[in-house]
Amino acid sequence: MVLRSASSFCLLNANGDHLLPLLNSSSIIRYSQGKSFVPCATKGSNNRPLTGVVFEPFEEVKKELDLVPTVPQASLARQKYTLDAEAIINEQINVEYNVSYVYHAMFAYFDRDNVALKGLAKFFKESSEEEREHAEKLMEYQNKRGGKVTLQSIVMPLSEFDHEEKGDALYAMELALSLEKLTNEKLINVHSVASKNNDVHLADFIESEFLGEQVEAIKKISEYVAQLRRVGKGHGVWHFDQMLLHEEGVAA
Ligand SMILES: [Fe+2]
Ligand SMILES: [Fe+2]
Repeated sequence: MVLRSASSFCLLNANGDHLLPLLNSSSIIRYSQGKSFVPCATKGSNNRPLTGVVFEPFEEVKKELDLVPTVPQASLARQKYTLDAEAIINEQINVEYNVSYVYHAMFAYFDRDNVALKGLAKFFKESSEEEREHAEKLMEYQNKRGGKVTLQSIVMPLSEFDHEEKGDALYAMELALSLEKLTNEKLINVHSVASKNNDVHLADFIESEFLGEQVEAIKKISEYVAQLRRVGKGHGVWHFDQMLLHEEGVAA
């Protein structure tokens, strides 16, 4: 067996006699099985300078300790989270809320008794809730990084979605597709702010929690637009609506 000893250790036999008074850090001790050696610290060994130290926690933590905020208004957790990043997260919260509001207006339109496209109403209700969840996820992230959530105004959406040429279903779905693409652009912008500030945590958060899902949503709504273009404005829309009504997890 091979033992590599630390510089501050010596070896004693079972009677307590020193076998090897001081060993330097590169000493290698071989012993055969059955003989008992006891490693112990030697007196004064701490005076020797340590070599090969790459991290001195109590030295290095001093500057971090000086940076711990003392005012109660300041976040304790905040670290390498720039004002740019904080502002763009608040903007994205607003984007998600605006999209949620538009989808909610679409839900209310398709749920009317004289429109009665229940599948589209369900689709836009679930989509509205999902966008609000996105806003909330961003709020939690803002707090996690030590930023402050600042909610901004949201714009009054349309309440009529009928379109002479396209009809209401196709018009609303094309609007949804455009909103999802716009949201994707805004998310890419958040990601570029993260990259510019070398904020790898924020970049990873946007990539893993938002960008993949956004691309999926764009694909799904594009297919709905294509299908609605095929079926036209009349009877086909009813079938499309029934498909949405009976499909699970349709939200975009
Ligand atoms: Fe979203
Ligand atoms: Fe979405």
